[in-house]
Amino acid sequence: MINGSMLKTRILIIGSNGMLGQRLINFFSVNSNVELLCVSKEEKSFIDNIEYRSLDITQKQKVMDIVLDFFPDYIINAAAYTSVDKAEEEREITWKINVNGVENIALYSWTIDAHLIHISTDYIFDGKNGPYSEDDKPSPINYYGRSKLASENSIRTSGVRFTIVRSNVLYGPVKFGRNDYVKWVVESLRSGKEIRIVKDQFNNPTFIDDICLAINKLIEFKKEGIFNIAGPEILSRLDFTYRIADYFSLDKKLVTPIVTEDLKQPAPRPLKSGLITLKAETQLGFRATSITDSFAVIRKYLGL
Ligand SMILES: NC(=O)c1ccc[n+]([C@@H]2O[C@H](COP(=O)([O-])OP(=O)(O)OC[C@H]3O[C@@H](n4cnc5c(N)ncnc54)[C@H](OP(=O)(O)O)[C@@H]3O)[C@@H](O)[C@H]2O)c1
Repeated sequence: MINGSMLKTRILIIGSNGMLGQRLINFFSVNSNVELLCVSKEEKSFIDNIEYRSLDITQKQKVMDIVLDFFPDYIINAAAYTSVDKAEEEREITWKINVNGVENIALYSWTIDAHLIHISTDYIFDGKNGPYSEDDKPSPINYYGRSKLASENSIRTSGVRFTIVRSNVLYGPVKFGRNDYVKWVVESLRSGKEIRIVKDQFNNPTFIDDICLAINKLIEFKKEGIFNIAGPEILSRLDFTYRIADYFSLDKKLVTPIVTEDLKQPAPRPLKSGLITLKAETQLGFRATSITDSFAVIRKYLGL
């Protein structure tokens, strides 16, 4: 926990309306040692009773205004263009948000010597021989992955104090905005809808609340560099879906196994992916929540 000092730790959460952003708000807003400011693209915050301002990170001057005004100790950037398939077509806007936007954040973090914590992805890898450690060589195979790798590189060369948190397939008790994967599967199967799920994509799905805990540890231990934060088990998307179906007592017969090739998606996907979390385990004491325990939290929190 962040605690101890007379002065509160000032944290700016960027992208606070996103899946991860919402859970970061829930996590840090209850810590009385933290002064929080949340920003995201929308006019209003999805979550009430917090300090919120609207910010488009591609607008350099506005990033400057907010960072210099709030003067945070830590900036957590959870904002990104995250639509993997659309990114293939929408290259300009993807680059503007994921690279130029991050350059803006890094520049003003550096200006006030704030520590920047940025979220990245296993999609910077090609998925030929995962799971990947922090030291493995990136080789993205789609435009989203290329833009996220470029965002990492722009931070690394900016001179800012930074921590990059790489993760994959985020899921959790997210109340607002788009559905996470678990809620989507539960709602689909419960309404009797058939879903086609790939059996050839492997990774370790990550309980979002584990990322919040890990970021708190990174702040507590003042860790810089790259850290993989991900789930406890590598499994195929199909097996993850069966685990959801089993836990929530849903009809598995509605799940049709397919291969990635069948989907004809615009963006190629890394197939054998996932992230090794040994560094976080040894340096932060990170312990990923079991899949069953994470489903229990989701069920309780969302009433699923
Ligand atoms: N979801 C995953 O499975 C996954 C896996 C690995 C890594 N990640 C990374 O984790 C981070 C958080 O992902 P997430 O799933 O929470 O994403 P998300 O739900 O799509 O949230 C991203 C947030 O950023 C906001 N945003 C987009 N463009 C912006 C801009 N120009 N200025 C300010 N805010 C902007 C979005 O607003 P709008 O919705 O209005 O655009 C949204 O609220 C991202 O960096 C992502 O790359 C995600």
